Amino acid sequence: MEKTLSVKHLIGIKDLTKEDIELIFSQADEFKEVLNRPIKKVPSLRDVTVANLFFENSTRTRLSFELAEKRLSADVVNFSASTSSVKKGETLVDTVNNILSMKVDMVVMRHSSPGACLFLSQHIDASIVNAGDGTHEHPTQALLDAYSIRESLGGVKGKKVAIIGDILHSRVALSNIYCLKKLGAEVMVCGPSTLIPRHIAHLGVKIEHDLRTALEWCDVANMLRIQLERQDVGVPYFPTLREYSLQYGLTKEILDSLPKKIVVMHPGPINRGVEITSEVADSKQSIILNQVENGVAIRMAVIFLLSQRRRSQGELN
Ligand code: CP
Repeated sequence: MEKTLSVKHLIGIKDLTKEDIELIFSQADEFKEVLNRPIKKVPSLRDVTVANLFFENSTRTRLSFELAEKRLSADVVNFSASTSSVKKGETLVDTVNNILSMKVDMVVMRHSSPGACLFLSQHIDASIVNAGDGTHEHPTQALLDAYSIRESLGGVKGKKVAIIGDILHSRVALSNIYCLKKLGAEVMVCGPSTLIPRHIAHLGVKIEHDLRTALEWCDVANMLRIQLERQDVGVPYFPTLREYSLQYGLTKEILDSLPKKIVVMHPGPINRGVEITSEVADSKQSIILNQVENGVAIRMAVIFLLSQRRRSQGELN
């Protein structure tokens, strides 16, 4: 019997089983092979229509989803909140229901509110894929990150991954923690105490405030961006960007002084010269562009598997 995902929507990694993640990875392996052919396209989703709804800015995720959908031969419609009737006060459910009445099967959504994708999944019939909801989850980023670790190091189980930087505001950090722990990796979060959520140890991660200690421990350092747009409290989380960079910025000098060669990752967009120098971001130890490349295969796998599930249950339009 054909294997299927245990979920109808991809709201968060928290809802996936280890088997779901492994199924997505093996499907992504097949699509990666397609992406290396001269004609990078398969006819698998000719009967599927996908709407990409972006209520918040994106470069990588938006382009990657659109490309993934087109490589699968799905029909694609794109929606940007900044040029829509949302500006005239239309609600999220009204907006989406209007789009769905045009017989859309799947909605890929990015929204600034944590829980927006879950809310939508409770009100509409289409499958929802979370492309990042506020500070909550960014599941496809975590899948492509873990997939890239698997590709670079031959597996994820038993690997030591340090997630470094602004953990407090990061949906990438939370999704990565769920995903890496389900796959059997050891996870450490590192940053100033003001940027580490108070109860994060309950997720089974180590906490470290010293960058060098974290780097000496890990096989992989996932450097996160300081999310200046979400730091809207009166009291700053750290004195200045320069001070943050001196304490937590990854430089070539630190990288070269470590006892072993580690893999360097970053989900993007990069603040060059803040959490990572250009020299490190562009070095041989960095797999940042491999992550972006793998994102297309991972998103093809997610959309394909969710559509396959809908098709098997007679739910496609
Ligand atoms: N990594 C990521 O989500 O990048 P974008 O915000 O450009 O989509």
